[in-house]
Amino acid sequence: MGQAVQETGLQAVTRAGHDVTFSYARSERKLKRLARDAKAKWGSPREAAQDADAVLLAVHWLRIGDVLKQAGDLSGKAVVTCSMPMNADNTELAVARTSSGAEELAKRIPKARVVAAFGTVPSEVFFDVYKRRRRAERPSLLYCGDDRRAKQVAVKLIRDAGFDPEDAGPLRIARYTEPFTMLIAQLAYEQKGGPRLAYRFERF
Ligand SMILES: NC(=O)c1ccc[n+]([C@@H]2O[C@H](COP(=O)([O-])OP(=O)(O)OC[C@H]3O[C@@H](n4cnc5c(N)ncnc54)[C@H](OP(=O)(O)O)[C@@H]3O)[C@@H](O)[C@H]2O)c1
Repeated sequence: MGQAVQETGLQAVTRAGHDVTFSYARSERKLKRLARDAKAKWGSPREAAQDADAVLLAVHWLRIGDVLKQAGDLSGKAVVTCSMPMNADNTELAVARTSSGAEELAKRIPKARVVAAFGTVPSEVFFDVYKRRRRAERPSLLYCGDDRRAKQVAVKLIRDAGFDPEDAGPLRIARYTEPFTMLIAQLAYEQKGGPRLAYRFERF
């Protein structure tokens, strides 16, 4: 799990009553602190994954091979990824148009059930969304995947984090949601409003 996403997204999920294990950091001290602050557990990727109903993957694209190797067998697991397939200096998508990070991930773990979710909002907004979860109108959150049961797991997590899940279809739709995330990042980090930003789809 990534630090920014661990500190915010996973904490929101923990607050919603899920049993969470924080994992993957060079600093064990930091990991322990994150887990303690969130009243969660911490452990190796293998420990975090082995009895989990869902594995939330939020590491840099270049770390995917390493974290998968450390996690071990993910057969049958719902793997919810927000990892964007960014190049080393985080300036461009390294995979786009003819594939997506989510699809490339699924090819690496063909026995796991991959869903793309949580990546289309900045981590800075997770706490705000969670705090306002009882309001009638929630921000939307896009997700996509090919496995029905894994998508149900993602929907529960998305709702518990305070969002309104928006099913975008099969996993290949990550080819569109990942560039959409680049737009969200532009608004969040380059424009004036700041990163506590979410979106909501309305149908008329
Ligand atoms: N943050 C967002 O708003 C956002 C939005 C959309 C998508 N995402 C995606 O989520 C993923 C994580 O983003 P983030 O912002 O949470 O990143 P981050 O804060 O940089 O987190 C990266 C994590 O990986 C760990 N790490 C890095 N190198 C490692 C290594 N060699 N061995 C073990 N652990 C290592 C870091 O821990 P240490 O530093 O302690 O090693 C840290 O916990 C990325 O793929 C990003 O594209 C993030």
